[in-house]
Amino acid sequence: MSIEALSGKVFLVITGASRGIGREIAITFGSLLQEGSHILLLARNLNGLQEVAKNIPSKVTVHTVSMDLGEVTKTDFEKTILGCLKGITRDAFDRVVIVHNVGTIGDISKFVNDMLDVDDWKQFYTLNFFLPAVLNAVIMNLFDKSTNTKKVVINITSLYAVQANAACGYYCTVKAAREMYFKVFALENPDVNVLSYSPGPVETDMFHTVYETIANPDTKKKLKRLHETNTILTTEQTVNRLVKILKEHKYNAGDRVDYFDDI
Ligand SMILES: NC(=O)c1ccc[n+]([C@@H]2O[C@H](COP(=O)([O-])OP(=O)(O)OC[C@H]3O[C@@H](n4cnc5c(N)ncnc54)[C@H](OP(=O)(O)O)[C@@H]3O)[C@@H](O)[C@H]2O)c1
Repeated sequence: MSIEALSGKVFLVITGASRGIGREIAITFGSLLQEGSHILLLARNLNGLQEVAKNIPSKVTVHTVSMDLGEVTKTDFEKTILGCLKGITRDAFDRVVIVHNVGTIGDISKFVNDMLDVDDWKQFYTLNFFLPAVLNAVIMNLFDKSTNTKKVVINITSLYAVQANAACGYYCTVKAAREMYFKVFALENPDVNVLSYSPGPVETDMFHTVYETIANPDTKKKLKRLHETNTILTTEQTVNRLVKILKEHKYNAGDRVDYFDDI
């Protein structure tokens, strides 16, 4: 299958790649990449990342780096990426693709009037918003105009970026902020293919955490129903849909596209 957004020799970076949707993106995109491409997989669990790497064809070089993406600095990102590029000039790549997949749900046992600790807010926003923005800027600067490398940025967003949900104060606000960040980024960088993809409800650890711990009984009921009626999506279904959206490329830079959108 030919997909322009993944064509040529690609340097692909995926955050939160050890399990769930990120794992599936790594395996699916990895199978579509041309020989000589490199993939950098980031998450904390190195064993998980290495298991994912085993499922990627050997014509692609996979780098697995354990990193707490809520604790790193701009310099850590630069060193890690330059470490992967040792002996290769950056303009050897036709395309750099970044998938900002990492995401956590936050404390969903609390309603907003109980969210009073600024350190909790900072910690959540650092992992889910500040450091994805920093990583994005680091990659844009490393692969600047002098390299002639085409760029694709995929932000994994959520329905909750545009639909408020009780007991999801951290998550809803951060997903909305992250989407708007990538809209601004798209305006300032008209040469970049930017997509915010909302994957639908997907059977992953995150889904189970929400189902088991959310303080909002209505959401609990809805998720239970999804599970019981087998209408929750698999990681394969949602990532295949993402591939189709990229292939058809009917969106404008910075748009959000949901799994269920008819585009
Ligand atoms: N599942 C759904 O129904 C759903 C719906 C809408 C949107 N989404 C979005 O889809 C994305 C992926 O979600 P998912 O359901 O696949 O979640 P998941 O199964 O919980 O996986 C989360 C991934 O993020 C990594 N991660 C978490 N904290 C990290 C940290 N501090 N440092 C580095 N890596 C960290 C995890 O790896 P380690 O534990 O190894 O670090 C894991 O690879 C998220 O952005 C989420 O908001 C999911």
